[in-house]
Amino acid sequence: MRIDKNIILRGFPRNKDKYVRLIEFFKEILDICGEIDIHPVVDGSLAVFAYTRNKNIDINDIDLSISETKFPKIIRVLKIKGIKYRSRDFHVLEIIRNDLKVSFGSAEQWSTNLPTDYQTLQIDNHQVKMLSLAGLVKQYEHALNNRIEKVYGDACEGIKYLELRGKYKLLKMEKPPLITRQKIIIDPFLIASEHILKNGDRVLFRPLVKNDAIAFGSFLEGLKEETRDKFGPHSLTTKEAKNICNTLNYLEVLRLVLINTNQEIIGYMILSFLLRESQVLRYQIYKIQLRQKRDACIAPVIADNYQNSRAGSIMLEETIKIAHNLKIKYLILWQGVQQTNTRAIHYYEKFGFRKNGEFDRYGTHNIDMTLTLNNH
Ligand SMILES: CC(C)(COP(=O)(O)OP(=O)(O)OC[C@H]1O[C@@H](n2cnc3c(N)ncnc32)[C@H](O)[C@@H]1OP(=O)(O)O)[C@@H](O)C(=O)NCCC(=O)NCCS
Repeated sequence: MRIDKNIILRGFPRNKDKYVRLIEFFKEILDICGEIDIHPVVDGSLAVFAYTRNKNIDINDIDLSISETKFPKIIRVLKIKGIKYRSRDFHVLEIIRNDLKVSFGSAEQWSTNLPTDYQTLQIDNHQVKMLSLAGLVKQYEHALNNRIEKVYGDACEGIKYLELRGKYKLLKMEKPPLITRQKIIIDPFLIASEHILKNGDRVLFRPLVKNDAIAFGSFLEGLKEETRDKFGPHSLTTKEAKNICNTLNYLEVLRLVLINTNQEIIGYMILSFLLRESQVLRYQIYKIQLRQKRDACIAPVIADNYQNSRAGSIMLEETIKIAHNLKIKYLILWQGVQQTNTRAIHYYEKFGFRKNGEFDRYGTHNIDMTLTLNNH
């Protein structure tokens, strides 16, 4: 084992207030470790922050690694000092104070095969061993590989996977990859993102995948009549959900879903690169030359009990980013928006869509709206 450089912990992550309290709690734990001659190794998000100093990450808890044989010694002192702890069956000892958590992971269980050329992390007057940058990259690679299987079946797993992946990219100092539809086919999580609704619920926005058929069917079947009246790009049935999930083709139509932590689909956005002849003709009248398979049209819908919860805004904002990355110039609406749908008109205008013209179709009066992106 070799300890060479000192890395000084400086600056603050995004969740500064909690972080400041967490570091104070951590220093107390380090004092206890010192008293009983235990020398844990810092890894996880604190180590990522120490190496990258990136202000956009959250540090919600502190992870340490130590031989599991030391757990009883730590527990004895915690009991004497009356500090709350929890022994988890996944070989982790958690020390808790209100919303703060410092976790000792079993080195035998979680840190085998990681390099042991540690660094020293300096936190004010405290020093603690820290996994080397190469070791940390390896630790994140293992964690990502272990999680990938579960990310499509469980939104919580998907959110954790995204967080890990973000930190891994920071460690590797990777530039955001150039996004293409082909790359999305290989790795749909390339365009996945995590968000928080008005009511505090965490949600995941990602492409629809084959395994979503059942959840997607329940979502479509659950839409109420007043919503169905405004959204009708295809039939809204379980059968159609199955059919769509079995024939996904991201090169032609990218279908994205918003999923809550109960694994329910609560929003659906179509981003279609297939434009109808009728759309192209109408746009010629507006003097806009749409390009087949290069420009795109959208159709969003949110589950009735989630409407007005910001869910639609999250989907649209992310879809615009995706469209921008895919070098789309004109983003138009599937078949316009009904003139009476004042909420949707406000919603599109909020994101920069502008009205082009009006047309009648199947007995409704509709408005074409377009967002012009800064792409050629
Ligand atoms: C349109 C839709 C996708 C928007 O999603 P959402 O989650 O409800 O929307 P958000 O909460 O993100 O935003 C709604 C905005 O409309 C505003 N709004 C609500 N009711 C409104 C109304 N009657 N008139 C004008 N604005 C209204 C809200 O205040 C909010 O604006 P703000 O962000 O400036 O405060 C969703 O309501 C929906 O699925 N509607 C039914 C299907 C539909 O109309 N699809 C569009 C077809 S073109």
